[in-house]
Amino acid sequence: MSPTSTSSDVLVVGGGIIGLVTAWRAAQRGFATAVVDPEPGGGAAQVAAGMLAAVTELHYGEQTLLGLNLASARRYPDFAAELTELTGQDLGYRRCGTLAVALDADDRAHLRELHALQQQSGLESQWLSGRECRRLEPMLAPGVRGGLRVDGDHQIDPRRLAGALVAACERAGVVFHRVWAQRLTVVRDRVTGVVLADGTAVAAGQVVLAGGSLSGRLDGVPEDVLPPVRPVKGQVVRLTMPPRHEPFLSRTVRAVVRGSHVYLVPRESGELVVGATSEELGWDTTVTAGGVYELLRDAHELVPGITELALTETRAGLRPGSPDNAPLLGPTGLEGLLLATGHYRNGVLLTPVTGDALAYALATGELPEEARPFTPKRFSTTALTEQPA
Ligand code: GLY
Repeated sequence: MSPTSTSSDVLVVGGGIIGLVTAWRAAQRGFATAVVDPEPGGGAAQVAAGMLAAVTELHYGEQTLLGLNLASARRYPDFAAELTELTGQDLGYRRCGTLAVALDADDRAHLRELHALQQQSGLESQWLSGRECRRLEPMLAPGVRGGLRVDGDHQIDPRRLAGALVAACERAGVVFHRVWAQRLTVVRDRVTGVVLADGTAVAAGQVVLAGGSLSGRLDGVPEDVLPPVRPVKGQVVRLTMPPRHEPFLSRTVRAVVRGSHVYLVPRESGELVVGATSEELGWDTTVTAGGVYELLRDAHELVPGITELALTETRAGLRPGSPDNAPLLGPTGLEGLLLATGHYRNGVLLTPVTGDALAYALATGELPEEARPFTPKRFSTTALTEQPA
């Protein structure tokens, strides 16, 4: 074989957590698998807080997505245990629960509506008075007016998860091409592989496009199967909690303050992640004074004691937003091309179910039952024009 060509059964474009889990599960199924990414394990997982918040992040109109989110949340204990056993790495998976609180009457009305929606959806959450919230989390502001206790929404450290997935892929024999993918190659309406930025041609039986917010930018992808993803910027601040007998916070605390989501995710390592802005600014990943100010201002209203903590890091990342806020999973209308992208606010939560669904799709050509509503074909222009009048 010439040094400028190589081949695999499955080529995954994008080595973020979604691409990595897909590659790992594909390799476990016996596919010769490769990943293209200049920096495997990088991407949005390096910024994300890692909330596994199927219940607290429920939104009206997203009940179908809820089913997938719950399916993935249920897989997390076994998924985390399997990865840790395989790699020896601690993922920071913490079954700590979440407390969503309200600071004023408007926030409280919003939380009451969320509670009603959770109940209609058969989800477990418990309404607490302000005093009960402070009993659970004594660092909360005296002005907290009530809250929702959700014991099933946990957290994982996405940076550790990404590192463990790289290690799991390496153990499973996945080949890494540490360059950018440049162009999809298509011959007679069938994907044949990808040309890399260094000129290497990688032939592949199947290509999975898992490039997060960049997934719509690979050259050579025909317009009608190009994933409709867009970047949604999120700025995040990392603080460090002092080691002491009583934890600063013992669970994730979150709220909607003046219409913006703010959450504080305390890790056992002492890291406290405060996130996140949500900004439609294209490819901009600048950390702005305004973004950091708003996060710290809103977090301070919830937990005034944060001003005493060390400010360790500020960072911005790009969520892969999709038109219906749900991921695009599985085969496209182009033979040999599959998608695993568009996970928007739920990439970390949806990692286990995405890996399983894509491995199944690669082996059978079909999506498993729980992933069928997320077929990329729901956005296909051809499918729309083929609808009866
Ligand atoms: N799921 C949290 C975020 O996207 O900010």
